[in-house]
Amino acid sequence: SSHLLSAADLDRDDALRILDTAEELLSVAQRPIKKLPTLRGRTVVNLFFEDSTRTRISFEAAAKRLSADVINFSAKGSSVSKGESLKDTALTLQAMGADAVVIRHPASGAPHRLATSRWMSGAVVNAGDGMHEHPTQALLDAFTMCRHLGDLEGKSITIVGDVLHSRVARSNALLLHTLGADVTLVAPPTLLPVGVETWPVAHSYDLDANLEKADAVMMLRVQRERMNASYFPSAREYSRRFGLDTARMNRMPEHAIVMHPGPMNRGMEITADVADSPRSVIVEQVTNGVAVRMAVLYLLLGGAADADSPEGNA
Ligand code: CP
Repeated sequence: SSHLLSAADLDRDDALRILDTAEELLSVAQRPIKKLPTLRGRTVVNLFFEDSTRTRISFEAAAKRLSADVINFSAKGSSVSKGESLKDTALTLQAMGADAVVIRHPASGAPHRLATSRWMSGAVVNAGDGMHEHPTQALLDAFTMCRHLGDLEGKSITIVGDVLHSRVARSNALLLHTLGADVTLVAPPTLLPVGVETWPVAHSYDLDANLEKADAVMMLRVQRERMNASYFPSAREYSRRFGLDTARMNRMPEHAIVMHPGPMNRGMEITADVADSPRSVIVEQVTNGVAVRMAVLYLLLGGAADADSPEGNA
């Protein structure tokens, strides 16, 4: 496919091809000379209509390490604030010759709209759309899990917290299912989406019952900005039932890892002790995000015709 819009678009072979390519590229991302010439002459536009730290910076780093030209666009400070539409923004990008557009948008489906329009011809990568999906986050999470746990077939992954508002949870549930993992979503009933029974995962309201079997526990941010103020749970009550603290972490198997996509609410869904503990791979997730996004851009935009590996023409 020429776009990456949803984790559901990836079959097992597609996903493994991205993860294997990322594994090859991780060493490049960590080398002193960090650049490959693979995407020289290509233009990648980061089109961010919603705030981001990790995703925006890591796509920028990924594109630059492949020698692409990078244009960063944020809606704040742009003509979007004057009412310019997605269509006119896309036509502007097309006129500037964008080969790929990495888009984050508060509206679910905006990347799909862009990809199926005739407004621009470049590849579209979903960098998070509303409460819908965040496929490169799921890929970097799977990559991180594979590095610690090996093959994910039959592994137990517990995803905890504000599943309702979480595009990360949705993309992870889809991708992890494709990779053969057993996923359990743990949340208060009010923070599970309607229709969760149709997802290819189990769900539970009881965190304590889902720690001892977990190979990885992924904590989700409580997304206050997507909630009605009166609905926001009290931090004390929430963390008592659904927060990961040291006592709970110690009940996980010794090999099990703690994950969080960031940004964290320290003291709410995760304590500072757990976030900074040796079992936390949260910082590593960010590092791996660069390699995974390099792999996605490389596979979508292709390298030189004579190169059959990302380092082939280095
Ligand atoms: N995990 C994630 O998407 O973080 P940002 O919102 O900072 O990009």
